[in-house]
Amino acid sequence: MVNIRKVTDDTWWVGASDRRIGLFENIYPVPDGMAYNSYLIMDEKTCLMDGVDASVTGQYLENVAHVLAGKSLDYLVVQHMEPDHCAVIPVLLARYPGLKIVASAKAIAMIGQFYGIDVSGSAIAVKEVDTLELGRHTLNFITAPMVHWPEVIMSYDPATGALFSADAFGSFGALSGNIFADEVNWGRDILDEARRYYVNIVGKYGAQVAAVLKKASALEIKMLLPLHGHIWRENLETIINRYETWAGYIPEEDSAAIFYGSIYGNTANAAEILAVRLAEKGVKNIAVYDTSKTDTSEMLAAAFKYKVLVFASATYNGEIFDPVNHLLTDIKNHNLSGRTVGIIDNGTWAATAGKRIIEAVGAMKNMTVLEPVVSIKSAVDTDTHLKLIELADAIKNCLS
Ligand SMILES: Cc1cc2nc3c(=O)[nH]c(=O)nc-3n(C[C@H](O)[C@H](O)[C@H](O)COP(=O)(O)O)c2cc1C
Ligand SMILES: [Fe+2]
Ligand SMILES: [Fe+2]
Repeated sequence: MVNIRKVTDDTWWVGASDRRIGLFENIYPVPDGMAYNSYLIMDEKTCLMDGVDASVTGQYLENVAHVLAGKSLDYLVVQHMEPDHCAVIPVLLARYPGLKIVASAKAIAMIGQFYGIDVSGSAIAVKEVDTLELGRHTLNFITAPMVHWPEVIMSYDPATGALFSADAFGSFGALSGNIFADEVNWGRDILDEARRYYVNIVGKYGAQVAAVLKKASALEIKMLLPLHGHIWRENLETIINRYETWAGYIPEEDSAAIFYGSIYGNTANAAEILAVRLAEKGVKNIAVYDTSKTDTSEMLAAAFKYKVLVFASATYNGEIFDPVNHLLTDIKNHNLSGRTVGIIDNGTWAATAGKRIIEAVGAMKNMTVLEPVVSIKSAVDTDTHLKLIELADAIKNCLS
């Protein structure tokens, strides 16, 4: 029958997972699929908290109809107007006459932009401190601009301590029956995907995420109900602490991540040499990535995670090799700051990649470039090997 689960006495998870999806937002690989959460509160007034992606519409409509069991649907709270939660708005309006949409004024305007429908007659615009009375529950709205879009609101229910947190506290990955974080080994199995999700989706907006965390700290939150990933009803500090760390761009791993771009393998060799010299000096949990092969979303997550970042690139038409350049651009675009950076370049006639990497890192905030910048002529020789050892020493010195 229907795939629904009870969240509280009168609140149901009516979301669904898409396991066929390859790329979330047509860019992020999601090998474990993607979950679209939505919650239905069955109070004197019935209230649906957000919708879902078009890919799971059939399952979703069945879930909603099952929980309603013939009752009318009174409210749809639209916390975030991104289509992965809003594709069902037109069909919900058609199915449930009298349905009122509750959203920020910005979100209401976006409904018209996306779906060409005028909802002015059926929409209620809300802002911070506004409330929505459902009966036993009263939703309190909190604005959360740029977590992940400008129109975002979150909803807090003092009766249950539930915070419906929109895209915040979510993760990549389908849900497998266990919709609660306490029903899975979250630290072992989910954390890495939750980080990759955070970093890529909202990593740019650390200041805005920190502002919402500050507002939320004034509330007595007993449950976090995000639009993707698991629901938190125990040990909420686990995810909240991570969000404070990520929003503050604070590294989690006292080690180095080495990102290389290499055409013929010589720059790769330099990166591997640096890694073993670091390991010999006692550095643990070193990560090495071939930027041509690893997805950028994964490397961006590593850049947020690691204290020291090393960029090693062959020179390509006077520039940084494309995949390394792309990673540097992505890191800049996501506002990562406060890392220590090592640089290796390589060229056969004019190695200029290093200079370009210094410029790219210089455009980021609060980055420290280590000496020496190692410049290789075609292949590592005795001299450049010594320079790599010097760089390993410099990296070791800034780790605790
Ligand atoms: C399309 C292309 C463009 C290149 N442009 C430059 C360049 O502008 N300057 C340079 O010194 N080497 C250039 N190279 C050569 C490589 O950077 C050089 O051989 C380097 O040692 C390769 O390192 P790898 O073994 O890690 O690929 C270019 C190579 C290719 C294939
Ligand atoms: Fe979103
Ligand atoms: Fe989303």
